[in-house]
Amino acid sequence: MNSREVEVQLALVILTMMILCLVPSSAKERLSHGETYRRNLLANGLGLTPPMGWSSWNHFHCNINETIIRETADALVSTGLSDLGYKYVNIDDCWADIHRDDKGRLVSKNSTFPSGIKALADYVHSKGLKLGIYGDAGYFTCSHMMPGSLGYEEKDAKTFAEWGIDYLKYDNCYNGGSKPTIRYKVMTRALMKTGRPIFFSLCEWGDMHPALWGNPVGNSWRTTGDIRDNWDNMISRADINEVFAEYARPGGWNDPDMLEIGNGGMTLDEYRVHLSIWAISKAPLLIGCDVRNISKDIMDIIANKEVIDVNQDNLGIQAKKVRWEGDPTIWAGPLSNMRVVLLLANTGPNHHSMTANWDDIGLPQETVVEVRDLWEHETLKQHFVNNLTAMVTRHGCKMYILTPVL
Ligand SMILES: *[C@@H]1O[C@H](CO)[C@@H](O)[C@H](O)[C@H]1NC(C)=O
Ligand SMILES: *[C@@H]1O[C@H](CO)[C@@H](O)[C@H](O)[C@H]1NC(C)=O
Ligand SMILES: *[C@@H]1O[C@H](CO)[C@@H](O)[C@H](O)[C@H]1NC(C)=O
Ligand SMILES: *[C@@H]1O[C@H](CO)[C@@H](O)[C@H](O)[C@H]1NC(C)=O
Repeated sequence: MNSREVEVQLALVILTMMILCLVPSSAKERLSHGETYRRNLLANGLGLTPPMGWSSWNHFHCNINETIIRETADALVSTGLSDLGYKYVNIDDCWADIHRDDKGRLVSKNSTFPSGIKALADYVHSKGLKLGIYGDAGYFTCSHMMPGSLGYEEKDAKTFAEWGIDYLKYDNCYNGGSKPTIRYKVMTRALMKTGRPIFFSLCEWGDMHPALWGNPVGNSWRTTGDIRDNWDNMISRADINEVFAEYARPGGWNDPDMLEIGNGGMTLDEYRVHLSIWAISKAPLLIGCDVRNISKDIMDIIANKEVIDVNQDNLGIQAKKVRWEGDPTIWAGPLSNMRVVLLLANTGPNHHSMTANWDDIGLPQETVVEVRDLWEHETLKQHFVNNLTAMVTRHGCKMYILTPVL
């Protein structure tokens, strides 16, 4: 290599370094650009805290009708669950007729929703609740029992708004292989054009990492495939969802799918872990069992106001897994007023003594804290400094709020 070639090589290296130095600032530009999009595209003011309510899918699947929806609305009120924040009554797949009407509009199935969705919305609203509905960003919904909205976005958004719909779960089946990043935004604009604030839940199953593009498009985005009512599946949804923690914020949340609590496939301890992780992950809390017929044990879990308050904390920061050593897993995240939420989760088959160190959970060393146990509903008599140790049962958890004592 002669000196001229060396100079050229050097110039290339310097140029490459300059380009690399530019990356962070262009990433910053993308973020602020995204914030502009967010204001322009959706800006519906919804989802400042994660949505709470019920959805028909996990318990009823396609076996739904207007009686079940009405009775569920009644039960949400009579059990007191609606006062705790469970306000959305969400009809999932299978509510519409397979044929659109002569004007191309979606219509509910005569056999199961004879009074129509508008009447149902009026009823649900009269109880102080909100009505959610389900559609699909493809040619059919996943059940293949009703039409999708691809190509009909404006018409369907208008129909939903006219009926008084408050929430749209938008699935991803039969999409012809085109990109969700294109299809979902069309519905975002269509919803915006209706002028009615409709919570927009992207159900894209995490295929194209919607956390990375969902904020200007929807109010929540599924990060995973469907949940099943068993321990391993539930924990795996939680783990996949955790990776995207930094993208959650007021107005746009990661969604590891709806709750299975009360459907019978897990123990009470496992269901407590389920609600605890969903709460600290700032996930939508959508009950998935039959609330018309709920046992006291299950009610005590889903109605735990202290755990719900963590989910609804106005700081809106998703907790992370801060340490795991095999089965014992420590999750933590900040809450408003300098508090920290701590979850000691034991995913293994044996009891474990677990220790959380302040270094791992974002508390300065020497900070003295008062500890509230959110499942035992008691404030521990002892104050803690530098660490906290507790015995955690198999497939169980301890959930605490740590408040610095000044
Ligand atoms: C549903 O019922 C309405 C009113 O009874 C009727 O006008 C309509 O044709 C029915 N639709 C279907 C698809 O059966
Ligand atoms: C809805 O389903 C329930 C139970 O499957 C049944 O008792 C009820 O009559 C049905 N109502 C309608 C409107 O189909
Ligand atoms: C109510 O729930 C219990 C289990 O908790 C179940 O055995 C029973 O069949 C349910 N009843 C109805 C009407 O679904
Ligand atoms: C916890 O912190 C205390 C006080 O600093 C210290 O004495 C103890 O060794 C720590 N325990 C563990 C398990 O780290």
